[in-house]
Amino acid sequence: MTRCLKATHQHIAQAAEALRAGGLVAFPTETVYGLGADAGSDASVARIFKAKGRPRFNPLIVLVENADYASKLSEVDDLSHCLIESFWPGPLTLVLPRRADAALSLLLSAGHDTIAMRAPAHEVAQDLLHAFGGPLAAPSANRSAKFSPTSAAHVADSLGPEVPLILDGGPCPRGLESTIVRTGGGNVTLLRPGALPRADIEAVLGQRLFQPEESDAPPAPGQRGGHYSPRHPVRLNAHHVAADEALLAFGSALEGANVALLNLSPAGDLTEAAAHLFAYLRALDQTPCTRIAVMPIPLHGLGEAINDRLTRAAG
Ligand code: TXA
Ligand code: MG
Repeated sequence: MTRCLKATHQHIAQAAEALRAGGLVAFPTETVYGLGADAGSDASVARIFKAKGRPRFNPLIVLVENADYASKLSEVDDLSHCLIESFWPGPLTLVLPRRADAALSLLLSAGHDTIAMRAPAHEVAQDLLHAFGGPLAAPSANRSAKFSPTSAAHVADSLGPEVPLILDGGPCPRGLESTIVRTGGGNVTLLRPGALPRADIEAVLGQRLFQPEESDAPPAPGQRGGHYSPRHPVRLNAHHVAADEALLAFGSALEGANVALLNLSPAGDLTEAAAHLFAYLRALDQTPCTRIAVMPIPLHGLGEAINDRLTRAAG
């Protein structure tokens, strides 16, 4: 049985208690809903892999309350320090060398000598981390290879009885997963484009982000190959709509969408489009269409991450 509770202080305290008892709790962050467990407990972390149907080789993100945890759990070089100062709390995840004495489950690192960590900015996530009093393992709260959830209802649809408790904090304001980077050798490599645009990071660093191919850093394991598998095929860069297609529009919508039409942003605003992306893809995937046609979306700013997710959905 899944209990979905409004994220009040009282329910957040109950959720923290459930986490201390080894249980799983889904909760909102500014990016997407996370599926949380005590990051220090192998048994709790194992429950996440099982609930998501996630392959054991794919490591989990660790969420922390503040920047103090970064140096407690990992080795922080100057570049990472600068990024943490600039962007935490917020939608930037750093892959950092794991400290030998870090009180974290080995299972969550899936055999890597690094951990991926961020401090979320969402009030409910912050309150839950504070009430729990330690780091939480928290990947996105969806079945492996499905769209990330941006509402409590998405979590319930995707994980069902696998998640006993969902804290409902409304829709996630950003709607896209965090940006993941890794520093090393004086460079910063972009492992996953996400809710923090590349240009914001490059402006702070005064240097270009590397792509995984041009650096020797291994990519984020979960980024290899396709990732999202909707029921219906997805067709990108559509300049017309077929009679049996649903349309995901951006800007002024194409004529002729007979089955269904959702517009990510009629005004052509990428921030608004990001916030709607996963919810609209889910909704169109439920319609009686044969395919989802997606209008072109510019590549700049948040468009890089939006196009990355769409390409994974189409792939
Ligand atoms: O916005 C987000 O980051 C959300 C919210 C809940 O925080 N979480 C999220 O987690 O998207 P997940 O597990 O769905 O995606 C994490 C990605 C995966 O592709 C995983 O392979 C990668 O991070 N990752 C985790 N640990 C890593 C590590 N040590 N080195 C490289 N990549 C890592
Ligand atoms: Mg995920």
